[in-house]
Amino acid sequence: MSIERKDEHDHGEWLREKELTPIETTFLTTLIWMDKRFRIVDYLEILETLYYRVNLQMPKSHTEQYGLDNKFWYWYPLYALGSFSTIAYVVAAVSGALLGFYYSPSTAGDPTAAYNQLAYIMVDLNFGFMLRSIHRWAAQVMVAAVFLHMLRVYFTGAYKEPREVNWILGIILISLTMVFGYTGYLLPWDQLAFWAGQIGVEMSLSVPLIGEWVAQLLFGGFSLSQATLQRMYILHVFLLPFVVTTLIAVHIGIVWMQGIAEPH
Ligand code: HEM
Repeated sequence: MSIERKDEHDHGEWLREKELTPIETTFLTTLIWMDKRFRIVDYLEILETLYYRVNLQMPKSHTEQYGLDNKFWYWYPLYALGSFSTIAYVVAAVSGALLGFYYSPSTAGDPTAAYNQLAYIMVDLNFGFMLRSIHRWAAQVMVAAVFLHMLRVYFTGAYKEPREVNWILGIILISLTMVFGYTGYLLPWDQLAFWAGQIGVEMSLSVPLIGEWVAQLLFGGFSLSQATLQRMYILHVFLLPFVVTTLIAVHIGIVWMQGIAEPH
């Protein structure tokens, strides 16, 4: 891609001469507008050069090597599972952000403020029941999709060289997906949450040598308290979203650079 830098007037004329469709004109006008201010074309060129450098070093895919491009892979739909995980994550993030307007991680009162907020969302808030259901469903669909995506990567041999890094990133992602689920499960601070939290404390305490330290760190003590809920909340709505979003971006960036693997 190489776009000559001209002044504004030149670009207008150049665009008109080309007889472009409205979509093309909008795209190019936006690109030129951005480039004038942020010189993004330079960066795009650097990215493109990088892309070709990396791609040239990739081994040939099976399709290229054996001329199989006209063969139908019957497992193709399963290649959508990664995207399906991403979509579920986005839905959970958006619905979670909206729920955040109504939730507060407080154990004050009996029933606690956190539980009362949940009751408010479920009973009084317009579309609150729907919002919470969307969030919970998205979370559960994500766990299932990520797991199935992992199976598809395993059974098509897509974890092999040169994709080991993405496999390891994937292991981190599936683990963090479960931490997301666990921390979220505790937020309603109902009976299910409380006893799931208790199990978490006991499991931490059972870690040899550093058990007590782990329980302190993760749960803020050996029994459940305000400190526990606050930790789960910050993990769930602040730390994990940043980390998981970044890792998913890197994961998909690597797929983009390496190209999708065909079955081995
Ligand atoms: C938050 C969780 C995850 C998201 C959002 C995600 C997303 C994606 C997407 C969109 C792709 C493109 C290909 C496809 O969709 O099949 C992909 C490929 C890949 N994923 Fe994931 N993934 C996740 C978890 C995992 C896990 C748990 C593993 C394995 C432990 C894994 C390993 C891989 C590998 C090796 C590829 C390259 C596959 C190929 O080139 O054919 N991912 N991922």
